[in-house]
Amino acid sequence: MKVLIIGSGGREHALAWKCAQDDIVKHVFVCPGNAGTYLEDKVSNVDLNLNEFSSIEKFCLEEKVELVIIGPEQPLVDGLTDFLQSKNIKTFGPSKNAAQLEGSKTFSKDFFVKYNIPTAKYKSFDNFESSLEYLHEISFPTVVKADGLAAGKGVIICQNSEEAIKALDSIFNDKAFGTAGNRVVIEEFLEGEEASFIAVVSKDKIIPLATSQDHKAVGDGDVGLNTGGMGAYSPAPIVTEEIHKKILNEVMYPTMNGLINEGSPYLGFLYAGLMIKDNEIKVLEFNCRFGDPETQPILLRLNSSLVELCKAAIDDELDTYSIQWTEKHSCGVVIASEGYPEDYESNKKVSIKENNIKDSKLFHAGTKYENEMVLTSGGRVFCATALGSDLKDAQKNAYNLVNNVEFDGAFFRKDIGFKGIK
Ligand code: AMP
Ligand code: GLY
Repeated sequence: MKVLIIGSGGREHALAWKCAQDDIVKHVFVCPGNAGTYLEDKVSNVDLNLNEFSSIEKFCLEEKVELVIIGPEQPLVDGLTDFLQSKNIKTFGPSKNAAQLEGSKTFSKDFFVKYNIPTAKYKSFDNFESSLEYLHEISFPTVVKADGLAAGKGVIICQNSEEAIKALDSIFNDKAFGTAGNRVVIEEFLEGEEASFIAVVSKDKIIPLATSQDHKAVGDGDVGLNTGGMGAYSPAPIVTEEIHKKILNEVMYPTMNGLINEGSPYLGFLYAGLMIKDNEIKVLEFNCRFGDPETQPILLRLNSSLVELCKAAIDDELDTYSIQWTEKHSCGVVIASEGYPEDYESNKKVSIKENNIKDSKLFHAGTKYENEMVLTSGGRVFCATALGSDLKDAQKNAYNLVNNVEFDGAFFRKDIGFKGIK
C-alpha cells in the first residue's frame, strides 16, 4: 500500500520513517516533507497545495494512496480530514469540529468545565477593556493565552499586572498573533511538573501511547523563552501507574465521551499537556495531533506497526490491535538554529557524519535538500534520538548522535532528560 503523510517537521519524518519500515507499505509520500524524508528509503516528497484540498484528493486517487496521516494542527483545524473522508480516502486525524480542542482555547476550557475535567481557573475575553478589568480580580503570576493557533507562541506568563497589560495590549491592539488573538483566555498559573499524555482515540476506544516529557523552555534548567519543544524522552517516570490511571479516568475518557456527546467523536492522536503536582493532575491544553518532538522518541520505542494502528482506528477496530513497545528508554535532543524561538538565519550548510550508534535515528525537521546538500530551513533543525537500557544510557547515545551534526549557529540543550534521571 501507499501512504501519504502531511507535514514537514521532525514528527513527520518520524511518522514516514516508521511507516516505511512496514513490509505492507510500498511507498510513503510526504507533503511537503524535508531533507530527511527526501533521503529516506521508500519515501519521497510531494509538493501539493495544502490550501487546495482537491489537489490532495487528486494526488491520492492518481497514486492510489490508501492511508493519509495528517501531522500538524492547521490542516486538521481547517477540515482536511472531513474533506478527504467525504471523498472516501482513509484519513487518520480528527474532524474540524473535534480539532477545536486545540484550535480554540475558549472551546477547550469551556469543554473541560462542562465535562468536569480538571484544569486551571480561567475567564475568556473578546475585548481589551474587559480583560483589563479582570486583572483587578486575580493574583499573579497569571497566564495570558491567545485563543487560536499561534504555533506554540500564544502563551504568555505574566509576573505582575504591568506584564499582563502589555501582553493583552500586544494581542488585542497590536494583533501580535493576528486573528488567533481575537479572543484571549486569562488563567490561573499552575505549579508542578509537566508531562505529555498521548493516545490514539477512535470514537469510544483508546490506546494510550508510551508516556513522555517535553522540554519547552529554550535554555538548560528550563529557563528562557518557550519553544515548540527542545527535546523529549520516554517513558516519563512522573507518570506513575497511579497517575496513569487518573489521567485516563479524569481526562482521557471524559474527553472521548464528551466529544461523542457533542456529536464530534474523535479519531487520531489526542495529546493532553498536563501539570502534575502532589498526585493531582490538571490539563494545560489539548493538542489534536502527535507532539513534536515527543513523536520521535515515542516512535523509536514502538515495535508494532504504525500503519496497522492507524488503519485499525479508522476502521473502528482498535480493540483488535495489540500495541508493543520496547522496554528500552529513549531520548531525543533537538538541534536548533541560533536565535530560535525568535529570529534565526536559514540556508546553512549541514554536515552529517555517518551514524554508527545502535538503535538511534537522526530525524530532520527544518531542513531542505538542494544541489545535493542538506541546508537548514527552520528554527528546529534536527532531533537526534536514541534508545538506551535506561534513560541515562539513552541520553548518552542521543548526545553522541548530536555530535555527528554540524552547521553554523547550531545549538541544543545539554540537559534533555534531567528530570527523569533525577
Ligand atoms: P499551552 O500551549 O497552553 O500548553 O502552553 C504552553 C506552555 O505554557 C505549557 O507547556 C506550560 O509550560 C505553560 N503554561 C500554560 N498554561 C499554564 C498555566 N496555567 N500555568 C503554568 N504554566 C502554563
Ligand atoms: N511538544 C509540544 C507540542 O507538540 O505541542
